Amino acid sequence: MQKEVVILGASGFLGYNLFGHLKSSLKDYKITGTYYQHKRSEEFFFLDICDKKQLGTYLLGNEPEILILLAGSKDLQRCEKNYSFAHAINTQPIIDIVEIIEKHNLNTHILFFSTDYVFDGQHESYKDSDIPDPSTNYGKSNFEAEKRLLNSSVSFNIIRTSAVMGHGARFFDWLIDSLKKSKETDLFKDILFTPTHLVLLANLTEIFIRNYKENNKQKILHFVGEKSFSRYSFGIMVATVMGKRDLIVASQASGIFQKNLILEQSEFARNNKNIKMEEFLEMELCNDKIH
Ligand SMILES: NC(=O)c1ccc[n+]([C@@H]2O[C@H](COP(=O)([O-])OP(=O)(O)OC[C@H]3O[C@@H](n4cnc5c(N)ncnc54)[C@H](OP(=O)(O)O)[C@@H]3O)[C@@H](O)[C@H]2O)c1
Repeated sequence: MQKEVVILGASGFLGYNLFGHLKSSLKDYKITGTYYQHKRSEEFFFLDICDKKQLGTYLLGNEPEILILLAGSKDLQRCEKNYSFAHAINTQPIIDIVEIIEKHNLNTHILFFSTDYVFDGQHESYKDSDIPDPSTNYGKSNFEAEKRLLNSSVSFNIIRTSAVMGHGARFFDWLIDSLKKSKETDLFKDILFTPTHLVLLANLTEIFIRNYKENNKQKILHFVGEKSFSRYSFGIMVATVMGKRDLIVASQASGIFQKNLILEQSEFARNNKNIKMEEFLEMELCNDKIH
């Protein structure tokens, strides 16, 4: 039987891009994906991760070799207003999946995509070995899922990524749209983050899967960009590629979600050379340049 990689949440921003990338690069695997509300491809099948019975039926019936967990909610405001929602969508499905795999002793390896928000942003930067201390419900719900995996007997890795950039990402699309409309665009100068471009994330995930049994020793990996930026300095970089540098204006941040979140790349990411953010932006924005 052909080995299978299934992406839960293939209809989302990360899942859709990863699905396309893995389908063209991992030819010896069958790549499948799920959707919930948006059937973006005929190849996707419906699965509600909040329904344990559905999860069980799928996992027992198919026993995929690799299960990529990219279904969840990154709606910071909604998670903050309602922890039960955050737990139900970002934690409970992982608890259920672990229980099903453990109970039936399935031969399935989990790749759980977690977030920089498991850290509170009070320290200068965070390594993959640092202990999380989330201050938002979104971060807490992801950290709870991480802990369940770490306390389980299943085969897994936790891949933390942050602020993934490319067409389809809300901040990225908003910035491009604003520059295309020649609007003056205010961006925070005092808050640092670690943008990660889509190609970097997809390449690292592919390379990791190719050899996951050997790579598996380090449980938590940071697949993030190589440099931190302020929103302002990132905006300057994007606007420069688009020929609109003068439209970016510096402003000051406020609010619970505005924190310094600088993640350091894991050794695995550093050792597998990737294209730089500047090169990615040149490729990604080739049709958006303003002449
Ligand atoms: N994007 C980032 O920069 C980033 C950074 C760090 C971590 N992450 C993590 O990566 C995950 C995916 O991020 P994303 O940017 O791809 O988010 P997204 O675009 O909002 O995608 C969310 C995915 O979850 C699916 N989903 C939602 N509710 C579901 C349910 N009840 N059952 C099954 N599937 C359900 C959605 O399916 P439908 O669209 O079909 O409803 C969609 O495929 C998130 O959980 C987030 O925490 C993302």
